[in-house]
Order: sequence, then C-alpha cells, then structure tokens
Amino acid sequence: MIEIDEKSAILKLKNANGEEEIIPFSSPKAFALISKYWLRIGWDTKHVYTFSWLGRPIIQLPEDVLRIQEVIYRVKPDIIIETGVAHGGSIVFYASILKAMGLQGKVIGVDIEIRPHNRQALEAHELKPYFELIEGSSIDVKVVEKVASFIKPNSKVLVLLDSNHTKEHVLNELYLYSEFVTKDSYIVATDGIMKDLSDAPRSNPDWKENNPFTAVQEFLQKKSEFVLEQPAWLFNESLGLNENITYWPGAYLKRI
Ligand SMILES: C[S@@+](CC[C@H](N)C(=O)[O-])C[C@H]1O[C@@H](n2cnc3c(N)ncnc32)[C@H](O)[C@@H]1O
Repeated sequence: MIEIDEKSAILKLKNANGEEEIIPFSSPKAFALISKYWLRIGWDTKHVYTFSWLGRPIIQLPEDVLRIQEVIYRVKPDIIIETGVAHGGSIVFYASILKAMGLQGKVIGVDIEIRPHNRQALEAHELKPYFELIEGSSIDVKVVEKVASFIKPNSKVLVLLDSNHTKEHVLNELYLYSEFVTKDSYIVATDGIMKDLSDAPRSNPDWKENNPFTAVQEFLQKKSEFVLEQPAWLFNESLGLNENITYWPGAYLKRI
C-alpha cells in the first residue's frame, strides 16, 4: 500500500509484513512507483485514446512515441514496417520522422481491416508518398510477401508489431518479421503492459500470460541473433532515471 505525504514530499510504502519504507519524491523509486499507478489509471480512463499526430488519431503513450523517435533517428531506417494501422496516426508519425530526416524511406502499414474512412483520410494525407497500406492479416504469407516486395537488398529495416496482441499471434509475427530486421535495428513487440493489466477493465484474466511480453521471452530462447534491450536514451540529465515509463515493457529486440 502506498501513502502520499505531499507536505513532506515522501511516499510511505507498506509491505506485506506491515513494515514501512519511506521513499522521497526525489528518488527514481518514487517516480517508478507512482508511474506504475499512473499507467494503470491511464488504461482505465483510456488516456492513450486522446492523441493525434498530424491529424490522425495515434493510440500510443506519448513517452513511447518520443522514445521510438529517438530510435528512428539513431537507426535511420529505409523501411519501417508496422503491423496494426487502426486510424493511421502511428504510420503518419513514422512517415513524418522519415521526411524530417530527409530520408527517402517508406513506412509499410499492415492491418487486417483498414476501414473506409481511415483509408480515405490516409490516402489524402500530405505524407502519403511516405507510406504504403496493405490490408490483410499480418501473419498471412501473401501479406508478408507483399511487405517483402518493398524491401531492397540494402534497405535498413525497423519493425513494430502493434496488431493482434495474443501471445501466439505476436510470436508468429516475431518469427515472420524478424527476418526483415537488419543488424543494429529492432523489432518492437508493443503493449507488453497487458501482463500487468489482467484485472483491469477491458482486459482478460489470461492477459497475465497471453501477451506480447511472454511472446518475446519465448522468441528469445530460440533466436540468439536478437537481444532484449531498452534503447539507450540520447539525452539524460535526470536525477537517476533510466527506465522508460511505457506501455511497451520488454519490447525492444535488437538484432546483433
Ligand atoms: C492497437 S491498434 C493499432 C494502433 C496503431 N498502431 C496506432 O498507434 O495508432 C491494433 C490494430 O490491429 C489490427 N489487427 C488485428 N488483428 C490483426 C491481424 N491479424 N493482422 C493485422 N492487423 C490486425 C486491428 O484491426 C487494429 O486496427
């Protein structure tokens, strides 16, 4: 249990034995603890369903968006593949970063259903020259072949998995799409936060195990060419902070 003492700027944390720990607001531990609740309350209130990027709804936590921007800047991919397009905000975001960096890259978005109003808005978008849309299941071999047709032999490729988040589906995607990832780039299995939300509203008790985080764990046991790592921050003058506040825990797999 946590008690917030605003006046003294401390948290009081009681463990199962009733012992109390005093944690100052100024410590990374206090930030991590409160963020854990903030993430959960954000899920309960659908906080991530309030943002857009260049006119398109983007269903992501802002910190995850800023962190992936840092990764894109460092990797400088020619091709960004994302499974799970929805309204297209994330596709447009990646496209905008490629354009801002002056890269001739392309974003390939795959979704099992691109709704007509979303397709229409995306086809008319200013950044359309920077992305392609493929409709179909991300684990359909024909869809994977279509994705492959956009990749040239020397293309640097980054992949984000944000479609169906069951363990089985993400594991299948990891095997299929990791083949495209180039050395020092990443495949990112988003939304591992599901493991911590199994008793939250709009969730399912099986999320404890049935989630992208566990898919990544299983994948890593078979694929030694990938390592799990939180990409290094490009700037950090904080007082001891070093972990992403994220919906994507245990998500970034780097090809070594
Ligand atoms: C969480 S939303 C994607 C959010 C989007 N990336 C963003 O940041 O705004 C998940 C999407 O995955 C799609 N989806 C579900 N199953 C899929 C599958 N088997 N293959 C491809 N897309 C799938 C859904 O149609 C939905 O649009």
